[in-house]
Amino acid sequence: MAARGEFSSRMAFVLAASGSAIGLGNIWGFPIKVASNGGGAFVFTYIVLTFLLAYPILMAELVIGRHAKSDTVKSLVKISEGSSKPLAYLTGYWGILTASLILSFYAIVAGWMIAFGLGSAGDLVGASGFSEWLTSFSLERNLLFVCLFYLLTIGIVANGVAAGIEKWSTRLMPMLIILIIALIAYISTQNGAAEGWRVYLTPEFDRVLNPDLLLSALGQAFFSLSLGVGTMMVYGSYISKSENLPRLGATVALMDIGIAFMAGLLVIPAMYVAQANGVTIYNEAGKLIDSDGLIFTVLPALFDTMGGAGIIVSLLFFTLMTIAAVTSSISMLEVPVAHAQESHDLPRKKAAWIVGVMILLVSLIIVFNFGALFGFVIDLTTKYSEPLIGLLFCIFAGWVWRRDALLKELQQGNPTMENTLFWKIWPTYVKVVCPLIVFAVFMHSFELLKI
Ligand code: PFF
Repeated sequence: MAARGEFSSRMAFVLAASGSAIGLGNIWGFPIKVASNGGGAFVFTYIVLTFLLAYPILMAELVIGRHAKSDTVKSLVKISEGSSKPLAYLTGYWGILTASLILSFYAIVAGWMIAFGLGSAGDLVGASGFSEWLTSFSLERNLLFVCLFYLLTIGIVANGVAAGIEKWSTRLMPMLIILIIALIAYISTQNGAAEGWRVYLTPEFDRVLNPDLLLSALGQAFFSLSLGVGTMMVYGSYISKSENLPRLGATVALMDIGIAFMAGLLVIPAMYVAQANGVTIYNEAGKLIDSDGLIFTVLPALFDTMGGAGIIVSLLFFTLMTIAAVTSSISMLEVPVAHAQESHDLPRKKAAWIVGVMILLVSLIIVFNFGALFGFVIDLTTKYSEPLIGLLFCIFAGWVWRRDALLKELQQGNPTMENTLFWKIWPTYVKVVCPLIVFAVFMHSFELLKI
């Protein structure tokens, strides 16, 4: 391994970056947003925004990261000259703060996954009182499991890129995919599933420009691909120069969309199946009764219909979800840790523990003030910070960085790059069109502009 960590192969990067991208955002967050924003219209807008905006910005992060081979702050400073340096510091630190805040709420939900997994194990051995405690919302449970999840995340990040991040990311994701497909097949046999699929797959196009829906879909597109915090920039810095970046980025984006789409194919029908079985999902005003708890209500209800096998399926599902959450959380913690290590010369282990415990403290504050802070931190980071930082990354790739250096970096690993459509379109697109799209969505959602 080089002095700086580097992914050992193309496959390792694809798995690590998709491990970062695929997580609670796809399987917990995406279905909630679909269910709260009218089904198919949200799915449609999210997919369009991922292609039109998120993929090009992912590429900006990867190219900058691979070129500068540093943490986020240093990378942005390296490609800046003179008067743009203060903006580089501002953007870099804003990204670090956002990554840390995302981890602070993410770890709470991930803790629930561990608790539900253990709850199924409890059911398996007949400890139903214990399972009941694990699967009911309480301050004590939340505190215990958020701490446990930090131990996992910090432990892995402390071991570094090759040893920690890669090993975890290259395992078990295929199992998650297989399990989701099997569950989709199972749910198709249940009453109510067809209605769920109808809602999920038929967009009402007149809702697509609804300001809340648009802003929500924008946030989801960024959050799901781990954009706008510097994660992908840091991961990009570990990619070797011999790789074809646009292709790597496209693979990651397609896997991420694919899993989100499949999660929707499972969870949305599961809502309707649960409803058909007497579980109340929406209140009289048509709003989700418990959005944060959506999959923790409808999936266990589905597993219950499977008899004894349901307990095993539940155990497997929540274990895999925990792993999916870990491969994402390590990529969040990597952002501040890479910075502490490279810009402040802290040894990696020490950096991981100090930074990790600091963010854990933020999580604890959220756990103690759940009602007031949980949704607020999610909205602040995913709906606002991530797209705005993404916009700044476009400014860096398109306006601040010298264009010849950008093009040279793109060409590395792909000598015939100049013949590709990507080469002809992307540099100008990311410079002009991407910032305009983000700007327009924000203006529209604040009702300053009618699209
Ligand atoms: N993309 C992750 C998910 O969908 O669960 C969440 C995430 C990971 C967001 C890493 C931001 C980040 F830096």
